[in-house]
Amino acid sequence: MSQPNPSTKPLPLAAGGTLRGTVQVPGDKSISHRALLFGAISEGVTRIEGLLPAEDPLSTAACLRAMGVGVSEIRAGEPVTVEGVGLDGFQEPADVLDCGNSGTTMRLMLGLLAGRVDRHFVLTGDGSLRGRPMRRVGGPLAEMGAVIHGRKGGNFAPLAVLGQPLRGTTIHTPVASAQVKSAILLAALTAAGPTTVIEPAQSRDHSERMLRAFGAQLEVGGPGLTQVTLTPGASLRGQDVVVPGDISSAAFWLVAAAITPGAQLTVQNVGLNPSRTGILEVLEQMGARITVLNSRDVAGEPVGDLQVSHGPLQAFEIGGDLIPRLVDEIPVLAVAACCAEGTSRIRDAEELRVKETDRLAVMARQLGAMGARIEEFEDGLAITGSSPLHGAVVDSETDHRVAMSLAVAAGIATGDSLLHRPEAAAVSYPGFWDDLARLRQPT
Ligand code: S3P
Repeated sequence: MSQPNPSTKPLPLAAGGTLRGTVQVPGDKSISHRALLFGAISEGVTRIEGLLPAEDPLSTAACLRAMGVGVSEIRAGEPVTVEGVGLDGFQEPADVLDCGNSGTTMRLMLGLLAGRVDRHFVLTGDGSLRGRPMRRVGGPLAEMGAVIHGRKGGNFAPLAVLGQPLRGTTIHTPVASAQVKSAILLAALTAAGPTTVIEPAQSRDHSERMLRAFGAQLEVGGPGLTQVTLTPGASLRGQDVVVPGDISSAAFWLVAAAITPGAQLTVQNVGLNPSRTGILEVLEQMGARITVLNSRDVAGEPVGDLQVSHGPLQAFEIGGDLIPRLVDEIPVLAVAACCAEGTSRIRDAEELRVKETDRLAVMARQLGAMGARIEEFEDGLAITGSSPLHGAVVDSETDHRVAMSLAVAAGIATGDSLLHRPEAAAVSYPGFWDDLARLRQPT
């Protein structure tokens, strides 16, 4: 566990009060990365509305600019334009590409760069990213002919990519990961012959939807939509992309309103892609009061407004194929479990150990400091929600989703809390602390 940096200020989080009002969460992180990346390899200009102006997409944009792609300045509320260089137009960057904290940037970039023949790329990131496994991408890409070197047999960044001609093949991925699937599909765009990716369970399908909209030839099938085949040859054309609000950011407000006495919130313009809505199913299973309003389709993704209010909650049990559909929401679901009647169980979630932090260990440690009855297992957590949480000194341990989950927990604790490293939230939700201050009301 890394120590809090004394140069960043801990944030006092007051207990008590409630939450009321309307909030518009920032753009979906997964869709934002993809809009930038797919725009970059297309012919012509891509115009993106609602792009997430947070640290992770800024990392993707910076890497693209370093390879000669024109990406306009990213400012909240303003459209972003990407001047595509075509499928093989990346210039060799003169320096290392810095992916910051962003696993999506590094993994999708590996797929994009593997087939750029006779060019050399080096990718690195912050301390967290340099400790995250990359062979899960490098291994499948090597089956297509890619050459990627890195620490520990190519598993850890810095990674060097030596662009090679690639061949199409069939790849069974060992984990249901949209980052792995998307990296393979991006490499497949310039491979010789079609490539099929077969996942153990369906992961989020934003790449499939958006690649098709940009003109790629792609078929999805298999049991549970776990099989995707991409046939190369089509050139991609720049598009207008509208990015919906991120359900993974909305999740903090959904849980906060469900557990905070007197709370009533409306979260507007939330992406409701079925490969992402596991959180809604679990909250429903818990008896949470959630209504979907104004369901609509925006640029190929389902969108709606969510109304949620406080009520009694029951424990939940989750595992299996549901996990990839709510993988980023498990930290905040752990907070919800602390306020539910009975023991909640999270299984088959070992992937959380290789996210921005080991989220099973970090949530057990931090919620434990607030008095939660939480037991940690190799693949999950068991949380008994009987006694109320108390205020405590807690730490995001540099993880954005942990920072925001702990803020939700602190709101319903019996005393005030102090959060170390709150600035981590800016990785996916730079306005989170302002939104929290605005929505908090006296009871
Ligand atoms: C993402 C996929 C998920 C998710 C991450 C974003 C994506 O990771 O946790 O925050 O944009 O493809 P995995 O694909 O590794 O499960």
